[in-house]
Amino acid sequence: MKAFVVHSTFVSLLAWITLTFALPQAGSGTVTAKARAATSTARSNTAAKAAGKLYFGSATDNPFLDEDATYKAILSDNTLFGQLSPENAMKWDATEPEQGVFTFTNGDVIVALAQANGQIMRGHNTVWGSQLPSWVSDSGFDNATLISVMQNHVSTVIGHYKGQIWDVVNEPFNDDGTLASNVFFETIGPTYIDLALQAARAADPDAKLYINDFNIEGEGVKATAMANLVSDLKSRGIPIDGIGLESHFILGEIPTTLQAQMEAFTALGVEVAVTELDIRMTLPETDALLAQQQTDFQNVVSACTAVADCVGVTVWEYTDKYSWVPSTFAGQGDADPWDENFEMKPAYDGIIAGFSS
Ligand code: G3I
Repeated sequence: MKAFVVHSTFVSLLAWITLTFALPQAGSGTVTAKARAATSTARSNTAAKAAGKLYFGSATDNPFLDEDATYKAILSDNTLFGQLSPENAMKWDATEPEQGVFTFTNGDVIVALAQANGQIMRGHNTVWGSQLPSWVSDSGFDNATLISVMQNHVSTVIGHYKGQIWDVVNEPFNDDGTLASNVFFETIGPTYIDLALQAARAADPDAKLYINDFNIEGEGVKATAMANLVSDLKSRGIPIDGIGLESHFILGEIPTTLQAQMEAFTALGVEVAVTELDIRMTLPETDALLAQQQTDFQNVVSACTAVADCVGVTVWEYTDKYSWVPSTFAGQGDADPWDENFEMKPAYDGIIAGFSS
């Protein structure tokens, strides 16, 4: 802890020097130290709990945990973060790279950290069309074999990581509300979702089982398809406890129906969570963009605060230093509430205000 305090003081000093003497940024405006920094002294996880939520959390990944002590120290502060999600460590390509050969090393590191810090774990994810090893995606397995392979994967991984919340099925839909084409859907058909959830329940009766997707955060055909699926699962007695709203948003484009959509989902008898929140902007940052981002974070968090069965909010990395966004969307970034120097941005004030609303 002492090392962290000294280190963060040093980082803060560096950031102050950088911000105080920074030259104006190129582009449509300037970024000043005053507008750039958060002013709130409240703590995000403490604020989430005070709002009746289970947690405010962050995704994390092993390379950063292993190599960046400042990153790890901030993530380990459970007044800031009450929950961790593994960005990649529990996915199929990481956990079963060869058939029947399971590697839990990276995921175990994250679970051990969460346990040491008293943080809740969300497992992410067991059945998804992406990040599959080729022995699954290109196997040509027949229906019965792939069912057995999938059930074994789900039950082994969730059996290893007991006591978690789990994104069992990830991104099952296309944006038009039809089921996405992936090896499970193409080989097994829509019942792959039933079978995955049933295998998860059998592996850990105490785990909270979620289906997680994007572009379901506002009213529309994809959200309706998710509601119809969950309703159908419940009517047939297939285990389902929650819907994850990923929430990878574009600045200024938070769905106005976010709270209404959360309420529509929870009316089905499941909980919801904001599972992968980030709000990306076209670079470079300006004071105006940071102010809009603050408003956007506040609106997302206050929607969750207002819905009793929205259990928590997770950002998909807390710092811009390790965001997935710039490598995926050219020219965009700065999507997270801490900047690349671990300074809290105005977005952090938005989070605190959202939990206080
Ligand atoms: O592990 C390899 C490494 O061996 C190799 O040297 C390196 C070279 O690029 O790639 C590494 O794999 C990368 C992996 O992250 C682990 O770092 C992949 O290239 C990279 O594509 C992968 O990106 C992840 C992405 O999912 C893959 O779909 C992001 O980190 C992760 O944030 C992102 O998370 C997804 C959620 O799971 C589902 N919802 C959307 C979200 C954002 O795309």
